[in-house]
Amino acid sequence: MHTWAHGLFYLWFMNTANYYAHKVIWITGASSGIGAELAKQLARKGAKLILSARDQMKLEALAETLENHSSHLVLPLDLGKNGNELAYVEQIMAKYGRLDILINNGGVSQRASALETSMEVNRQLMEVNFFGNIALAKAVLPIFRQQGSGQFLVVSSIAGKFGFHLRSIYSASKAALVGYYESLAMEEERHGIKVTLAFPGKINTPISKSALTAEGTAHGQMDSNQAGGMPVDECVAQLLRALEQHKREVLIGRKELLAVYLKRFVPALFWKIIPRQSAT
Ligand SMILES: NC(=O)c1ccc[n+]([C@@H]2O[C@H](COP(=O)([O-])OP(=O)(O)OC[C@H]3O[C@@H](n4cnc5c(N)ncnc54)[C@H](OP(=O)(O)O)[C@@H]3O)[C@@H](O)[C@H]2O)c1
Repeated sequence: MHTWAHGLFYLWFMNTANYYAHKVIWITGASSGIGAELAKQLARKGAKLILSARDQMKLEALAETLENHSSHLVLPLDLGKNGNELAYVEQIMAKYGRLDILINNGGVSQRASALETSMEVNRQLMEVNFFGNIALAKAVLPIFRQQGSGQFLVVSSIAGKFGFHLRSIYSASKAALVGYYESLAMEEERHGIKVTLAFPGKINTPISKSALTAEGTAHGQMDSNQAGGMPVDECVAQLLRALEQHKREVLIGRKELLAVYLKRFVPALFWKIIPRQSAT
């Protein structure tokens, strides 16, 4: 085959067989669970990654294990402390000159009733799961506009589709993301910007350990709902498929997803069955 034919074949192959090769992708919550697995699978596909979370040591240890580790950037940040977003984006643009995808995945859960949860904890959780999340979106939007392209993958939750025991503010934060990003999608699609909202059910990650109690301490336990959940690699493979296909929404999980359809189509049954399910 001629060199130009090789080149054309390479371009075609990279476009169809590997959507993520050479894409610059910013992942929040990359130090653990779904975010760390996203980093592993995306690095294998040839993406250049920006890895964010609070725990810098965990991020650096992860980056060391990733394929093409010199092409990734560790960018520690606290989603609960807004104000530095433009500086983060400047750092990313200085290294890569572009940003293709923001994966807004970082978040914290809750294990306390609405009655017990202090307003301080309510606000703290909204800061991390909602305001911290949308602050990054606002900071990258001008870049996406300039490029005429960009994608957001927003990790909401099945708890963003309906409320649940011990999840009042968590559920509220995840539902808030839906309203925000659906509006943003309507405004920005004509500028080449796409939004995928993901609603995972029960996924096997340590999220229950860091979930906030009524006083804002860590729950500290691996709940059986989590331990018995979908393996994280399976969840991430489905997330990446949905993102690549520009799906507006993706539900990921097992039988717990039935609750979403029950609520929509047979709400009386939803209210009979779902309140009896374990919250841990
Ligand atoms: N696992 C599930 O069953 C499930 C179901 C539905 C939705 N989700 C959502 O999926 C996302 C990832 O959760 P996961 O299951 O992978 O849990 P995880 O293993 O606990 O990971 C959570 C990630 O968020 C980061 N994070 C937490 N607070 C942060 C803060 N203040 N600033 C910056 N980063 C912060 C953590 O890093 P640091 O601690 O290093 O900051 C960690 O990397 C979350 O948004 C969660 O709500 C999970």
